[in-house]
Amino acid sequence: MLRARIAVLVSGGGTNLQALMDSRSRGEMPHSALTLVIADKAGIGAIARAERGGIPCLVIPRREEGFEKRVLDALAEYRIDMVVLAGFLGILSADFIRCFSGPIINIHPSLIPSFCGQGFYGLRVHEAALSYGVKVTGATVHFVNEIPDGGRIIAQKAVDIQPGDTPEVLQRRVMEEAEWQLLPAAAEQVAKQLVEQLK
Ligand code: GRF
Repeated sequence: MLRARIAVLVSGGGTNLQALMDSRSRGEMPHSALTLVIADKAGIGAIARAERGGIPCLVIPRREEGFEKRVLDALAEYRIDMVVLAGFLGILSADFIRCFSGPIINIHPSLIPSFCGQGFYGLRVHEAALSYGVKVTGATVHFVNEIPDGGRIIAQKAVDIQPGDTPEVLQRRVMEEAEWQLLPAAAEQVAKQLVEQLK
């Protein structure tokens, strides 16, 4: 296996997916093959980004019966080696994680263990950081296990909070200065380890 076959799970605008595709275009992901995108609902921005990036995209509605089984079947059909959760809002069950043998990584928009776990996603993370009054926040890429945001940390990047930040302004800064840099680098690092293990 020269490259690890990667599936990217998405739920929203797809800016983290875009960061992966842009990094690939810059030749920064030599051990990674962005092979499949799975959107957990129709009509999200990530779908159009996948199509523009030439990556096959499946829509598997998370709210429908048998969601995880359908995802597992797709991962098998596309011979996926690792999964990247990029703005994915679902919580994968312990059964799912046991069934998929490869690594699963996730990008979370805070410095875990702060502002993470059940109920901390999207703007809520930044609202919590601002209301607590922390001076520094950031993003974390971690391995996914059965505990929401609980897996081993792979990489983190700090971002300063500025006076007058709103949740929206802070979210954008964390995306630009941390998430979009961390996720491609971490995905490639894990992919490289996978490829080297299988040599
Ligand atoms: C954002 O809140 C981001 O911080 C988090 O998921 C949300 C949407 O990301 N990782 P994306 O634009 O769909 O990648």
